[in-house]
Amino acid sequence: MWFAILPSSQLKNKPVGLKRLGKDIVLWKDAQNRVNCIEDICVHRKAKLSKGKVVNGNLQCPFHGFEYSGDGKVTVIPAYGRNYKVEDRFRVKNYYVFEKFDFIWIWLGEEKPESDPKFFDDINESFSYSDYGELWRVPFTRSVENQLDVMHLPFVHHNTIGKGGKTVVNGPVVKWIDSDKFFFYVFNEKDKGFIAKKPEELKIEDSSIYLEFIFPNVWQNHISENVRVVAFFSPVDKESSVVYIRFYIKLSKIKFLDRLVAKGGMAFNKLILHQDKRVVETEKHNIFDDLLVQGDLPIMEFRKRIVKNKELFKDFLP
Ligand code: FES
Ligand SMILES: [Fe+2]
Repeated sequence: MWFAILPSSQLKNKPVGLKRLGKDIVLWKDAQNRVNCIEDICVHRKAKLSKGKVVNGNLQCPFHGFEYSGDGKVTVIPAYGRNYKVEDRFRVKNYYVFEKFDFIWIWLGEEKPESDPKFFDDINESFSYSDYGELWRVPFTRSVENQLDVMHLPFVHHNTIGKGGKTVVNGPVVKWIDSDKFFFYVFNEKDKGFIAKKPEELKIEDSSIYLEFIFPNVWQNHISENVRVVAFFSPVDKESSVVYIRFYIKLSKIKFLDRLVAKGGMAFNKLILHQDKRVVETEKHNIFDDLLVQGDLPIMEFRKRIVKNKELFKDFLP
């Protein structure tokens, strides 16, 4: 399964050490500009490889100069001489990585990736964007579920995107598009004394807002045809995750101008994000004894997949 872990802009010429999916990993770009990813620990005396440097496309340990290729093998032990053939046991674990849409994905699973990571078909080169990311002290399940939550708007965001006091949550309606992707449609309204409608009583066409989620960790809010907010929830460990927000805009034909608008607009997105963070970071980390209600339907769908993958996710699920 592919996990989005880092915006491409964060990986330049130097190796980058990260904690993701409960593992210490190091990323670097090789001579072909391809992203490589291996465990961030040298086989020799266990120094962090991310403190080293890239030499001829390989990653060189900062301590005694062992050189690693992208498959995790040590290719050079300088103390033996560059022409020495290094034994196979000198190797660390490597991970499949993929760079797409200016984001880096890592593959989780024993088998080989069978396809490329999925993204949103309706976002293309014609959009400009700005990026922002920050650490949240909750596991990725909690940070994802916050963006699948259509009930919190009039409370957490009462003075911003949740203005208007639409506290009654009809539905929402969840529609799976394929095995990993679902849309969810929002029908919130003011409390006029009626009981919230069930999803089967609602028509998708009547919804004012729809959002999209790609399991396990990519989300999109269709603000309009030309304005989108995308979020990536990158699992760090059992206690934390990094939330990356990308604000996509396609307003003028001039990329430079659109980028400026996207940058300016990020201030508002940050404000919203901090309203969320303030509350979400108080949640208990373990999701399994929550008592959910109908408005949590998108969260229930997400959890079905979480439960199926509990074993695979064990390093970063509390
Ligand atoms: S610890 Fe890495 S080369 Fe010695
Ligand atoms: Fe929110």
